Amino acid sequence: MTARARPEEVAQQPSPRVVLGVSGGIAAYKACELLRRFTESGHDVTVVPTAAALEFVGAPTWAALSGKPVSAEVWTGVHEVPHVRIGQTADVVVVAPATADLLAKAAHGLADDLLTNTLLTARCPVVLAPAMHTEMWEHPATQANVETLRRRGVVVVEPAVGRLTGADSGKGRLPEPAEVFELVRAVLDRGADAPQDLAGRKVVVSAGGTREYLDPVRFLGNRSSGLQGYALARTAAARGAHVTLVSANVSLDAPAGVSVVHVETTEELREAVLAATATADAVVMAAAPADFRPDSVSDAKIKKAEDGSAPSIGLVQNPDILAEISRDRARDGAVVVGFAAETGDVSGSVLDLARAKLARKGCDLLVVNDVSGGAVFGSADNEAVILGADGSAVEVPRGTKAALAQVIWDEVARRFVD
Ligand code: CTP
Repeated sequence: MTARARPEEVAQQPSPRVVLGVSGGIAAYKACELLRRFTESGHDVTVVPTAAALEFVGAPTWAALSGKPVSAEVWTGVHEVPHVRIGQTADVVVVAPATADLLAKAAHGLADDLLTNTLLTARCPVVLAPAMHTEMWEHPATQANVETLRRRGVVVVEPAVGRLTGADSGKGRLPEPAEVFELVRAVLDRGADAPQDLAGRKVVVSAGGTREYLDPVRFLGNRSSGLQGYALARTAAARGAHVTLVSANVSLDAPAGVSVVHVETTEELREAVLAATATADAVVMAAAPADFRPDSVSDAKIKKAEDGSAPSIGLVQNPDILAEISRDRARDGAVVVGFAAETGDVSGSVLDLARAKLARKGCDLLVVNDVSGGAVFGSADNEAVILGADGSAVEVPRGTKAALAQVIWDEVARRFVD
């Protein structure tokens, strides 16, 4: 007879302990949404606002949403030594929004309130999501502070570009709370001891499927959702990389801290990827560029013929971007990764065809999906084998696309030579 564990015997996974620091910027209201996402997905959240943050959103809001008392200073509940305990016991500290003042204090080790004390006592990963006006972000003092913090292993998320307080717009927005949440999840997934092994690295990721136009309204396209490429971009940012995401026709929010270049056609994708690749340490071609495009594009909408005949469409082959990047290697030592969606056929198994493709394309790694039956497209999960040009093969069991992305970056990081 098989023994079955009674419910009370099943080990409960402890809730990850998140410290949500909030400093004094108008984007403090967005941290309420971030807090909700954490609590609703089972995180134990302690909110530590600054006094200035409480000018924007009051303590009752933070207390009600987190289910815990809230204080900005070190003089409340002194017998529990909160200025040390909160940081020491956290699994991750995230500050959103992080103002220029908060970045400066963190960089210089100042500790004049509960949040800055917590930053000094934390031994867990720290994520700072700055939000401020463009001038303040670009100021050499702020940039020097950001550099110092990143060098120490802090994840400082690049602000988003868009509408700022008032009528002006530029770089300095807090990324969407849902995307800050996903980035912090990716940091937590890696665990406390995982190094920021992509810090200071420039990586390029392509995602989505290209469109090849027949006329102004019709195109040939494919089923790529962009989910895997976006997961790659998000996890690279969570590991400290400077990420350019070349996105072809994807309707997903920009991952936090990632600069997104939108393209439609394979030729536009090629130009954007080649431009970003010039200085990149790694390129991951997760996009599905169309292999063929119509040999001509009509300026006007193609009309139905009176006699009921269908127009014939001639196709020409598109350039193979992955093969071109692999051949030209814009930067010595850059790691190039391709994807292969294979079904296997009479000429060979999925892995036989993938090995041949790896050799043909000349890349360093090939992530092989078995797509018999359309298994991967649009799904939140993925499973793959990562083949290396050095003969390695890493099997990644079925799991989230974020989990596969982490293993791909492990393999990339292992291949950096400097
Ligand atoms: N790729 C590319 N440029 C293209 C087509 C594909 O860079 N014009 C890249 C994809 O981003 C992916 C890899 O090549 O990383 C494999 O794509 P796949 O469609 O499987 O390869 P093909 O060369 O088109 O091979 P097949 O004949 O099997 O379709």
